[in-house]
Amino acid sequence: MLPKIELHLHLEGAAPPAFVRGLAKEKSIDISGIFDARGGYAYADFWHFLKVYEAATSVLQSPEDYARLTRAVLEECAASGVIYAETFVSPDFCGGRDLGAWREYLHAIHETARAVAAQGGPELRGIVTCIRHFGPEKARETAICAAETVGDFITGFGIAGDEKAAQPKDFRWSFDCAREAGLRLTAHAGEWGGPQSIRDALADLGVERIGHGVRAIEDLALVDELAERGVVLEVCPGSNIALGVFADWRKHPINELDRRGVKVTVSTDDPPFFHTTMEREFQMLNRAFDWDEGQFARINRTALDAAFCDADTRGRIAKKLEAV
Ligand code: ADE
Ligand code: ZN
Repeated sequence: MLPKIELHLHLEGAAPPAFVRGLAKEKSIDISGIFDARGGYAYADFWHFLKVYEAATSVLQSPEDYARLTRAVLEECAASGVIYAETFVSPDFCGGRDLGAWREYLHAIHETARAVAAQGGPELRGIVTCIRHFGPEKARETAICAAETVGDFITGFGIAGDEKAAQPKDFRWSFDCAREAGLRLTAHAGEWGGPQSIRDALADLGVERIGHGVRAIEDLALVDELAERGVVLEVCPGSNIALGVFADWRKHPINELDRRGVKVTVSTDDPPFFHTTMEREFQMLNRAFDWDEGQFARINRTALDAAFCDADTRGRIAKKLEAV
Protein backbone atom coordinates (compact mmCIF):
# COMPACT_ATOMS: atom_id res chain seq x y z
CA MET A 1 0.00 0.00 0.00
CA LEU A 2 1.52 3.31 -1.15
CA PRO A 3 1.24 6.58 0.78
CA LYS A 4 -1.34 8.95 -0.66
CA ILE A 5 -2.27 12.62 -0.81
CA GLU A 6 -5.97 13.43 -1.22
CA LEU A 7 -7.14 16.92 -2.20
CA HIS A 8 -10.86 16.46 -2.91
CA LEU A 9 -12.94 14.94 -0.11
CA HIS A 10 -16.30 16.20 1.17
CA LEU A 11 -16.43 15.73 4.94
CA GLU A 12 -20.15 14.84 5.06
CA GLY A 13 -19.81 12.86 1.84
CA ALA A 14 -17.18 10.70 3.50
CA ALA A 15 -19.50 9.71 6.36
CA PRO A 16 -19.75 5.92 6.51
CA PRO A 17 -23.42 4.84 6.19
CA ALA A 18 -23.24 2.91 9.48
CA PHE A 19 -22.03 6.08 11.21
CA VAL A 20 -24.95 8.09 9.79
CA ARG A 21 -27.42 5.34 10.73
CA GLY A 22 -26.02 5.34 14.28
CA LEU A 23 -26.52 9.09 14.66
CA ALA A 24 -30.02 8.87 13.13
CA LYS A 25 -30.95 6.21 15.69
CA GLU A 26 -29.56 8.23 18.61
CA LYS A 27 -31.63 11.22 17.53
CA SER A 28 -34.73 9.27 16.39
CA ILE A 29 -34.50 10.70 12.86
CA ASP A 30 -36.01 8.50 10.15
CA ILE A 31 -33.74 8.56 7.09
CA SER A 32 -34.19 4.86 6.28
CA GLY A 33 -35.23 5.84 2.73
CA ILE A 34 -31.69 6.86 1.78
CA PHE A 35 -30.23 3.37 2.25
CA ASP A 36 -30.38 0.31 0.03
CA ALA A 37 -31.07 -3.24 1.20
CA ARG A 38 -27.35 -3.80 1.94
CA GLY A 39 -27.10 -0.67 4.05
CA GLY A 40 -25.26 1.48 1.49
CA TYR A 41 -26.46 4.87 0.26
CA ALA A 42 -29.11 4.60 -2.47
CA TYR A 43 -29.61 7.20 -5.21
CA ALA A 44 -30.71 7.21 -8.83
CA ASP A 45 -28.58 9.96 -10.38
CA PHE A 46 -26.43 12.97 -9.46
CA TRP A 47 -29.33 15.23 -8.55
CA HIS A 48 -30.87 12.54 -6.37
CA PHE A 49 -27.39 11.96 -4.90
CA LEU A 50 -27.34 15.62 -3.78
CA LYS A 51 -30.71 15.10 -2.02
CA VAL A 52 -29.54 11.90 -0.33
CA TYR A 53 -26.33 13.67 0.67
CA GLU A 54 -28.29 16.48 2.31
CA ALA A 55 -30.59 13.99 4.07
CA ALA A 56 -27.58 12.09 5.46
CA THR A 57 -26.09 15.39 6.58
CA SER A 58 -29.28 16.26 8.50
CA VAL A 59 -28.24 13.90 11.33
CA LEU A 60 -25.09 15.96 11.92
CA GLN A 61 -26.44 18.58 14.31
CA SER A 62 -23.69 19.63 16.71
CA PRO A 63 -19.95 20.29 16.92
CA GLU A 64 -19.62 16.99 18.81
CA ASP A 65 -21.25 15.14 15.86
CA TYR A 66 -18.67 16.72 13.53
CA ALA A 67 -15.83 15.76 15.90
CA ARG A 68 -17.00 12.15 15.71
CA LEU A 69 -17.41 12.40 11.93
CA THR A 70 -13.91 13.83 11.51
CA ARG A 71 -12.41 10.97 13.50
CA ALA A 72 -14.36 8.35 11.53
CA VAL A 73 -13.31 9.90 8.20
CA LEU A 74 -9.64 10.15 9.19
CA GLU A 75 -9.68 6.50 10.23
CA GLU A 76 -10.88 5.59 6.73
CA CYS A 77 -8.19 7.81 5.19
CA ALA A 78 -5.49 6.17 7.30
CA ALA A 79 -6.72 2.71 6.30
CA SER A 80 -6.04 3.68 2.66
CA GLY A 81 -2.56 5.00 3.35
CA VAL A 82 -3.54 8.67 3.09
CA ILE A 83 -0.96 10.79 4.93
CA TYR A 84 -2.32 14.24 4.00
CA ALA A 85 -5.90 15.18 3.06
CA GLU A 86 -7.89 18.30 2.38
CA THR A 87 -11.57 18.20 3.17
CA PHE A 88 -14.44 20.40 2.06
CA VAL A 89 -16.32 21.82 5.03
CA SER A 90 -19.55 23.77 4.68
CA PRO A 91 -20.88 26.41 7.07
CA ASP A 92 -24.27 25.66 5.43
CA PHE A 93 -24.31 22.32 7.27
CA CYS A 94 -22.34 23.54 10.30
CA GLY A 95 -24.59 26.05 12.03
CA GLY A 96 -26.46 27.47 9.02
CA ARG A 97 -23.71 30.01 8.16
CA ASP A 98 -23.93 31.72 11.56
CA LEU A 99 -20.36 32.84 12.28
CA GLY A 100 -20.48 32.09 16.01
CA ALA A 101 -21.87 28.61 15.44
CA TRP A 102 -19.43 27.99 12.58
CA ARG A 103 -16.50 28.79 14.89
CA GLU A 104 -17.72 26.12 17.32
CA TYR A 105 -18.13 23.46 14.63
CA LEU A 106 -14.76 24.36 13.18
CA HIS A 107 -13.09 24.17 16.57
CA ALA A 108 -14.46 20.63 17.03
CA ILE A 109 -13.28 19.52 13.57
CA HIS A 110 -9.86 21.14 13.95
CA GLU A 111 -9.22 19.80 17.47
CA THR A 112 -10.07 16.28 16.31
CA ALA A 113 -7.81 16.62 13.27
CA ARG A 114 -4.99 17.93 15.48
CA ALA A 115 -5.37 15.00 17.91
CA VAL A 116 -5.37 12.43 15.09
CA ALA A 117 -2.26 13.97 13.50
CA ALA A 118 -0.50 14.13 16.88
CA GLN A 119 -0.97 10.35 17.14
CA GLY A 120 0.68 9.82 13.77
CA GLY A 121 -2.52 9.82 11.69
CA PRO A 122 -3.14 11.77 8.48
CA GLU A 123 -2.77 15.56 8.47
CA LEU A 124 -5.94 17.40 7.52
CA ARG A 125 -6.68 20.89 6.17
CA GLY A 126 -10.11 22.41 5.49
CA ILE A 127 -11.47 24.09 2.39
CA VAL A 128 -14.62 26.09 3.16
CA THR A 129 -17.10 25.33 0.44
CA CYS A 130 -20.22 27.12 -0.70
CA ILE A 131 -22.99 25.18 -2.41
CA ARG A 132 -23.85 26.35 -5.88
CA HIS A 133 -27.54 25.43 -5.82
CA PHE A 134 -28.03 27.27 -2.52
CA GLY A 135 -27.37 30.46 -4.51
CA PRO A 136 -24.96 33.44 -4.47
CA GLU A 137 -26.45 35.15 -1.40
CA LYS A 138 -25.76 32.19 0.88
CA ALA A 139 -22.34 31.86 -0.75
CA ARG A 140 -21.50 35.38 0.44
CA GLU A 141 -22.30 34.43 4.03
CA THR A 142 -20.19 31.30 3.57
CA ALA A 143 -17.29 33.36 2.20
CA ILE A 144 -17.46 35.63 5.25
CA CYS A 145 -17.33 32.57 7.53
CA ALA A 146 -14.27 31.43 5.57
CA ALA A 147 -12.56 34.81 5.62
CA GLU A 148 -13.10 35.14 9.38
CA THR A 149 -11.61 31.73 10.13
CA VAL A 150 -8.63 31.58 7.77
CA GLY A 151 -5.69 30.07 9.61
CA ASP A 152 -3.55 27.00 9.94
CA PHE A 153 -6.54 24.70 9.37
CA ILE A 154 -8.83 26.62 7.00
CA THR A 155 -6.58 27.31 4.04
CA GLY A 156 -8.90 27.23 1.03
CA PHE A 157 -12.26 28.22 -0.38
CA GLY A 158 -14.31 26.42 -3.01
CA ILE A 159 -17.71 25.74 -4.52
CA ALA A 160 -19.55 22.42 -4.91
CA GLY A 161 -23.14 21.42 -5.68
CA ASP A 162 -25.18 21.47 -8.85
CA GLU A 163 -22.92 22.85 -11.56
CA LYS A 164 -25.93 23.65 -13.71
CA ALA A 165 -27.71 25.73 -11.03
CA ALA A 166 -25.80 29.01 -11.46
CA GLN A 167 -22.86 30.58 -13.28
CA PRO A 168 -19.38 31.04 -11.79
CA LYS A 169 -19.66 34.81 -12.28
CA ASP A 170 -22.57 34.85 -9.80
CA PHE A 171 -20.06 33.86 -7.11
CA ARG A 172 -17.33 36.36 -7.97
CA TRP A 173 -17.87 38.44 -4.82
CA SER A 174 -17.45 35.38 -2.60
CA PHE A 175 -14.26 34.27 -4.31
CA ASP A 176 -12.81 37.80 -4.22
CA CYS A 177 -13.62 37.96 -0.51
CA ALA A 178 -11.91 34.61 0.13
CA ARG A 179 -8.86 35.54 -1.98
CA GLU A 180 -8.45 38.85 -0.15
CA ALA A 181 -8.51 36.94 3.14
CA GLY A 182 -5.55 34.88 1.93
CA LEU A 183 -7.41 31.67 1.04
CA ARG A 184 -6.35 29.48 -1.88
CA LEU A 185 -9.11 28.76 -4.41
CA THR A 186 -10.68 25.78 -6.15
CA ALA A 187 -14.04 25.20 -7.89
CA HIS A 188 -16.02 22.17 -9.01
CA ALA A 189 -16.33 22.45 -12.80
CA GLY A 190 -16.26 20.21 -15.83
CA GLU A 191 -18.10 17.38 -14.08
CA TRP A 192 -21.70 18.08 -15.20
CA GLY A 193 -20.85 21.17 -17.21
CA GLY A 194 -18.67 21.00 -20.32
CA PRO A 195 -15.42 22.80 -21.16
CA GLN A 196 -17.04 26.26 -20.94
CA SER A 197 -17.81 25.65 -17.28
CA ILE A 198 -14.07 25.17 -16.66
CA ARG A 199 -13.14 28.25 -18.68
CA ASP A 200 -15.69 30.30 -16.69
CA ALA A 201 -14.43 29.04 -13.32
CA LEU A 202 -10.87 30.00 -14.27
CA ALA A 203 -11.78 33.39 -15.76
CA ASP A 204 -14.50 34.51 -13.35
CA LEU A 205 -13.33 33.02 -10.06
CA GLY A 206 -9.55 32.98 -10.54
CA VAL A 207 -9.16 29.49 -9.09
CA GLU A 208 -5.84 27.64 -9.21
CA ARG A 209 -7.34 24.16 -8.99
CA ILE A 210 -10.44 22.64 -10.57
CA GLY A 211 -12.55 19.98 -8.86
CA HIS A 212 -13.02 17.25 -11.50
CA GLY A 213 -12.34 19.23 -14.70
CA VAL A 214 -12.42 15.97 -16.61
CA ARG A 215 -14.76 17.18 -19.34
CA ALA A 216 -11.93 19.40 -20.55
CA ILE A 217 -11.18 16.35 -22.69
CA GLU A 218 -14.02 17.48 -25.01
CA ASP A 219 -11.93 20.52 -26.03
CA LEU A 220 -8.27 19.84 -26.75
CA ALA A 221 -7.43 23.56 -26.95
CA LEU A 222 -8.59 23.82 -23.33
CA VAL A 223 -6.56 20.74 -22.42
CA ASP A 224 -3.46 22.46 -23.86
CA GLU A 225 -4.30 25.64 -21.96
CA LEU A 226 -4.69 23.76 -18.66
CA ALA A 227 -1.34 22.08 -19.27
CA GLU A 228 0.41 25.35 -20.15
CA ARG A 229 -1.04 27.25 -17.19
CA GLY A 230 -0.33 24.41 -14.78
CA VAL A 231 -3.94 24.24 -13.55
CA VAL A 232 -4.29 21.27 -11.22
CA LEU A 233 -7.28 18.93 -11.62
CA GLU A 234 -8.67 17.16 -8.57
CA VAL A 235 -9.78 14.08 -10.48
CA CYS A 236 -12.14 11.60 -8.81
CA PRO A 237 -12.44 8.73 -11.30
CA GLY A 238 -14.50 6.36 -9.12
CA SER A 239 -16.99 9.17 -8.44
CA ASN A 240 -17.31 9.97 -12.15
CA ILE A 241 -17.91 6.32 -13.01
CA ALA A 242 -20.40 5.72 -10.16
CA LEU A 243 -22.37 8.82 -11.21
CA GLY A 244 -22.24 7.93 -14.91
CA VAL A 245 -20.08 10.80 -16.20
CA PHE A 246 -18.01 8.07 -17.91
CA ALA A 247 -19.09 4.51 -18.65
CA ASP A 248 -16.12 2.67 -17.14
CA TRP A 249 -12.54 3.00 -15.95
CA ARG A 250 -10.94 2.50 -19.33
CA LYS A 251 -13.12 5.25 -20.82
CA HIS A 252 -12.12 7.71 -18.09
CA PRO A 253 -9.91 10.54 -19.48
CA ILE A 254 -7.46 10.81 -16.54
CA ASN A 255 -4.74 8.92 -18.39
CA GLU A 256 -5.16 10.97 -21.57
CA LEU A 257 -5.18 14.26 -19.63
CA ASP A 258 -1.98 13.19 -17.89
CA ARG A 259 -0.41 12.15 -21.19
CA ARG A 260 -1.23 15.59 -22.62
CA GLY A 261 0.61 17.30 -19.77
CA VAL A 262 -2.26 18.33 -17.50
CA LYS A 263 -1.46 18.21 -13.77
CA VAL A 264 -3.84 15.49 -12.56
CA THR A 265 -4.30 14.27 -8.99
CA VAL A 266 -6.50 11.48 -7.60
CA SER A 267 -9.22 11.73 -4.94
CA THR A 268 -12.40 9.95 -3.82
CA ASP A 269 -14.94 12.85 -3.56
CA ASP A 270 -17.58 11.07 -1.40
CA PRO A 271 -16.08 7.59 -0.98
CA PRO A 272 -18.89 5.54 0.64
CA PHE A 273 -21.44 6.94 -1.81
CA PHE A 274 -19.30 5.62 -4.66
CA HIS A 275 -18.17 2.39 -2.99
CA THR A 276 -14.59 3.51 -3.20
CA THR A 277 -11.49 4.31 -1.14
CA MET A 278 -8.16 5.89 -2.08
CA GLU A 279 -6.64 2.41 -2.10
CA ARG A 280 -9.29 1.24 -4.56
CA GLU A 281 -8.76 4.30 -6.81
CA PHE A 282 -5.06 3.47 -7.03
CA GLN A 283 -5.77 -0.21 -7.69
CA MET A 284 -8.27 0.54 -10.45
CA LEU A 285 -5.88 3.03 -12.12
CA ASN A 286 -3.20 0.37 -12.01
CA ARG A 287 -5.57 -2.12 -13.65
CA ALA A 288 -7.07 0.24 -16.24
CA PHE A 289 -3.93 2.11 -17.33
CA ASP A 290 -1.02 0.10 -15.93
CA TRP A 291 -0.09 2.97 -13.64
CA ASP A 292 2.91 1.82 -11.65
CA GLU A 293 4.66 2.98 -8.49
CA GLY A 294 6.63 5.61 -10.38
CA GLN A 295 3.43 7.07 -11.83
CA PHE A 296 1.73 7.11 -8.41
CA ALA A 297 4.79 8.81 -6.90
CA ARG A 298 4.49 11.49 -9.60
CA ILE A 299 0.76 11.93 -8.86
CA ASN A 300 1.49 12.26 -5.14
CA ARG A 301 4.14 14.89 -5.83
CA THR A 302 1.76 16.87 -8.05
CA ALA A 303 -0.87 16.74 -5.30
CA LEU A 304 1.57 17.79 -2.59
CA ASP A 305 2.85 20.71 -4.69
CA ALA A 306 -0.76 21.83 -5.21
CA ALA A 307 -1.81 21.31 -1.58
CA PHE A 308 -3.22 24.31 0.25
CA CYS A 309 -0.72 24.06 3.11
CA ASP A 310 2.31 26.00 4.31
CA ALA A 311 5.92 25.21 3.39
CA ASP A 312 6.68 23.47 6.70
CA THR A 313 3.79 21.07 6.27
CA ARG A 314 4.72 20.42 2.64
CA GLY A 315 8.28 19.65 3.68
CA ARG A 316 7.15 17.31 6.45
CA ILE A 317 4.80 15.40 4.13
CA ALA A 318 7.44 15.27 1.37
CA LYS A 319 9.81 13.54 3.81
CA LYS A 320 7.14 10.94 4.56
CA LEU A 321 6.61 10.32 0.84
CA GLU A 322 10.33 10.03 0.21
CA ALA A 323 10.77 7.60 3.10
CA VAL A 324 8.79 4.96 1.19
N1 ADE B 1 -20.93 17.61 -3.46
C1 ADE B 1 -20.52 16.42 -3.05
N2 ADE B 1 -20.05 15.69 -4.07
C2 ADE B 1 -20.16 16.45 -5.18
C3 ADE B 1 -19.87 16.27 -6.55
N3 ADE B 1 -19.33 15.14 -7.01
N4 ADE B 1 -20.14 17.27 -7.38
C4 ADE B 1 -20.68 18.40 -6.94
N5 ADE B 1 -20.98 18.63 -5.68
C5 ADE B 1 -20.74 17.67 -4.79
ZN1 ZN C 1 -16.65 17.04 -5.06
